[in-house]
Amino acid sequence: MPKPPFLAALLLLLISSTPSPAACRSSFVCNLVNYTAGDPFSITLNLLFPDLVEGGSVQPGENYYNNYSYPFSPAYGRSSCSGSLTPGICKFCLQSTVAALIIRCSMAVGGQARIDDCGIRYEQYEFL
Ligand SMILES: *[C@@H]1O[C@H](CO)[C@@H](O)[C@H](O)[C@H]1NC(C)=O
Ligand SMILES: *[C@@H]1O[C@H](CO)[C@@H](O)[C@H](O)[C@H]1NC(C)=O
Repeated sequence: MPKPPFLAALLLLLISSTPSPAACRSSFVCNLVNYTAGDPFSITLNLLFPDLVEGGSVQPGENYYNNYSYPFSPAYGRSSCSGSLTPGICKFCLQSTVAALIIRCSMAVGGQARIDDCGIRYEQYEFL
């Protein structure tokens, strides 16, 4: 049975990109507890997530923390990039990671995502 052409193309892409770190490694952990639609936590998350990417303080090689509690539903977050990334690539990586996290952990009260060399975590409690 012939291989589907897209698979052959994908293999070619993976082989040709070796040994650069282009192959995407990702992992996700989502809290199994969900918040409900209309929970103010969704509002604090909408403040937190852009900040974790755009905070302006996310330096490659360091953890960046922030939190929001308006309106009375705290959300704590952390973002980080490997020190080997430039600030521009770091931001791009975090944008992709937060987008994937929002989809994968939709409505979860906490979650973590790591894609290649950057990571994002959010919780309803403070953590390090
Ligand atoms: C939480 O939401 C996810 C996706 O929306 C769903 O798969 C999961 O079953 C939900 N968990 C609970 C405990 O309801
Ligand atoms: C939460 O936010 C406050 C005010 O910006 C800040 O002082 C505090 O350090 C933050 N805590 C964490 C865990 O980021």
